[in-house]
Amino acid sequence: MIDYLFVAAIKEPRSFIQDGIKFPDLIHALKPEPHNEIPQAQSAHDTFWDFISLSTESAHMIMWLMSDRAIPRSLRMMEGFGVHTFRLIDKKGVSRFVKFHWKPVLGMHSILWDEALKISGADPDFHRRDLFEAIESGAGPQWELGVQVVEEADEFKFGFDLLDPTKLIPEELVPIQMLGKMTLNRNPENYFSETEQVAFCVSHLVPGIDVTNDPLMQARLFSYLDTQLSRLGGPNFHELPINKSIAPVVNNQRDGHMRSTINPGRAAYEPNSLGGGCPFQAGAKMGGFVSFPEPVDGAKVRDRSDSFRDHFSQATMFYNSQTPIEQEHIIEALRFELGKCEFPEIRERMVGVLEQIDAALAKGVADGLGIKLPVKLKPPMNRQVPADADAARYQPTKSKPNPKKSPALSIIGNLVPGVKTRKVAILVADGFDAGQVKTMINELTAAGAVPKIVATHGGMVDGMKVDFALNTVKSVLFDAIYIPGGQASVATLQLHSAAALFVLETYKHCKAICASGEGAEFVQTCLIKAGVASRATDKVFAAANGVVISEDEKPKAVAAQFIEAMSQHRTWNRVKTELVIA
Ligand code: HEM
Repeated sequence: MIDYLFVAAIKEPRSFIQDGIKFPDLIHALKPEPHNEIPQAQSAHDTFWDFISLSTESAHMIMWLMSDRAIPRSLRMMEGFGVHTFRLIDKKGVSRFVKFHWKPVLGMHSILWDEALKISGADPDFHRRDLFEAIESGAGPQWELGVQVVEEADEFKFGFDLLDPTKLIPEELVPIQMLGKMTLNRNPENYFSETEQVAFCVSHLVPGIDVTNDPLMQARLFSYLDTQLSRLGGPNFHELPINKSIAPVVNNQRDGHMRSTINPGRAAYEPNSLGGGCPFQAGAKMGGFVSFPEPVDGAKVRDRSDSFRDHFSQATMFYNSQTPIEQEHIIEALRFELGKCEFPEIRERMVGVLEQIDAALAKGVADGLGIKLPVKLKPPMNRQVPADADAARYQPTKSKPNPKKSPALSIIGNLVPGVKTRKVAILVADGFDAGQVKTMINELTAAGAVPKIVATHGGMVDGMKVDFALNTVKSVLFDAIYIPGGQASVATLQLHSAAALFVLETYKHCKAICASGEGAEFVQTCLIKAGVASRATDKVFAAANGVVISEDEKPKAVAAQFIEAMSQHRTWNRVKTELVIA
């Protein structure tokens, strides 16, 4: 479950909920349902959507979760966010608000929903393997660290509350200033010791950074340590090698379960005279941590600020900022998720929420679910709660002014072209054209891509090591496919329906396809049979659709066209193509 959160939350710049006290409810709703322990790893079930449809503060997060951002091509190709608004405090003690961002150097890229479903069966470790292999190969996944800085005086100049963790600051309003770069250059030697036992504690702050009154952050400050104390077996988990401070720790903590440091001296308290007064707490002048002295005025109550009651404006902004293809993906994702809910009233209520975000979005989803619009919801959102102040505090108000669009939120609209670390399947059987394959491997490798030989059998094929036997992989595990010539090779591929399916699924998922010599004939036959027909044989059509078909050109020229097609990531004009797959 925490892994799910890692993926869901870290790569999204806002949260599902506004207040940490709702965290257990969110997790209980998302978990496998108590009566049957299903589903194990999906949000497509009733309790999750019941909660979400009644917690409209989640509307913005849901747009992200149902968008392409939630199905990245790789962990190396997704953005990361600090989510909360933090403080940066300079040497003079002046505080500014800050949002932290990680931008992947390879750019953002996503896969299709259909691929995600298939990948989870074909290789449940797809993302873990991808990251491990990229680091191992020396490709060094990189992210740039950036900050959006807001002067304290500007806190109220936005149409939303800076301390509301369900909101982001559009990059167009406050540009991101890049500060540095992180490169992952080493894998753990031992996964358990170096990863499972890590304790990231959000209350561990360094001088210069402080938290704000964001109520979600406040809950996290105690919750992580509380969990780590039991997860890692007691108060001395910071002595495990992976958690141990590199600088010597000089404090008055002693003893406790599994203590390994042997502290000399008799004085473990402050003030003392027996230890010469040491250790003592370092103040600001000595570089010690000092909390930002924020003036506070007002009644201390458990309530939500009125400024937290705008639930929809940024959900609408996110949806508006997507390209038509990305909007269609959100609609399809919601149809899938809500289509799996058993209770019609949950589906309806959720469509009612979507109506508050965008009319076309709600209609698209409602059509897929067979729901008539407008949905009639009884206030408060059909919820059986007593009519007291509590109920009122969760009710959304009218949306506040926000930018209508933030172009930075689209993935397709911000494509970073390139083929570095892209996995290419070279589909062969005995008797392939060795010259073509050699040239293709050389050219792809020089461009930074990762060619893999996929053959109809394992072991060796014509003296070349087979990376994967065809029956062990699926097209969804690769970014592109190349089918070289060689009469015998192609004749064997024709006998394997898995080879034709490989080509067709690659086509359906809008990925680059290249074929030369007799391989070209094979690809054309597959596409003709699938109903993309005569057009597949037309070179102009092929080029416009990311298909490089060449019966005669020089292998280097073919490779160059293929690399160009791959660098576009996907050929989106294929997305509507219906394939006849017999
Ligand atoms: C912005 C919202 C949040 C983000 C981005 C976030 C992110 C994360 C991440 C990345 C982890 C580590 C996952 C792992 O090691 O596999 C984690 C763990 C955890 N989170 Fe959160 N979280 C958020 C909100 C919350 C809230 C509101 C609570 C509780 C009120 C909470 C409680 C926990 C706990 C108890 C752990 C386990 C800590 C441990 O055992 O080391 N989180 N969270």
